[in-house]
Amino acid sequence: MKRVVFNQKGGVGKSSISVNLAAISAEQGYKTLLVDLDMQGNSSHYLGWEGDGPSVADLFKQTVGWFGRLPEAESYLYDTAWPNLSLLPASEALGPLERELEMRYKIFKLRDALKSLEGEFERVYIDTPPNFNFYSKAALIAADSVLIPFDCDGFSAQAITRLMDNLLELKNDHNPDLSLEGIVVNQFNPQARLPRQLVAELTDKGLPVLKPELGSSVKLRESHQAQVPLCHLAPKHKLTEQFRGLWRALEAESVVGREALEH
Ligand SMILES: Nc1ncnc2c1ncn2[C@@H]1O[C@H](COP(=O)(O)OP(=O)(O)O)[C@@H](O)[C@H]1O
Ligand SMILES: [Mg+2]
Repeated sequence: MKRVVFNQKGGVGKSSISVNLAAISAEQGYKTLLVDLDMQGNSSHYLGWEGDGPSVADLFKQTVGWFGRLPEAESYLYDTAWPNLSLLPASEALGPLERELEMRYKIFKLRDALKSLEGEFERVYIDTPPNFNFYSKAALIAADSVLIPFDCDGFSAQAITRLMDNLLELKNDHNPDLSLEGIVVNQFNPQARLPRQLVAELTDKGLPVLKPELGSSVKLRESHQAQVPLCHLAPKHKLTEQFRGLWRALEAESVVGREALEH
């Protein structure tokens, strides 16, 4: 099962959500891979990667040129400090490489590389950059399903319609099997009226909003700083419990709206 966490808006929780769901998946005994496609490398850093050694940029580079071939994805993987959790890290080199990869139609190479790893990993989470660019498209082509973090902001709510249009077009053109697993509500404050109203509007539009919502906590920032996912840093914390609940909901496939991208 390969899940991509995507929203073209920055700061909505893509990296936090992909890392923490991946960490819970690994903790629950699933061989799990986190792929970081954002050149800022936030989720790579979060999982303890210090930036030295080959990255996903080198994997893409290997596909370019005369000797370009299907990447041996295994040689770019890092074992994290936690059992069952591996990382395919990002690097700044993704930036200057993007145009060349686009010109040479390398958009399917990530899908091929992840296919070659299917025997090794039961769950894959892909973190994406805050743009509908080459890398996020490659991720959406490589994935089975997409999770959309939503930060309860009025502008984000407006942007969701454009995001859905982009996803639908990509699905029709390149990955007919892609499903919208759901919208992950992040930094939710149930006491405030506006967030409740914005979430209700998404539901009214027929979009699959996942439960439970994720609250806001400084613990998450501490977790980024300590480079330790929440389930290890604060196993009993309320936000950790919400992440676990979300993970269970995804695994149970009790979520609604698998067909939401069909229409
Ligand atoms: N539920 C949350 N509670 C508190 N802070 C959060 C929460 N989700 C995200 N943040 C903070 O917001 C910032 C952006 O989150 P991040 O996961 O990096 O978003 P993105 O990857 O979409 O840019 C980070 O500083 C992160 O710690
Ligand atoms: Mg990020």
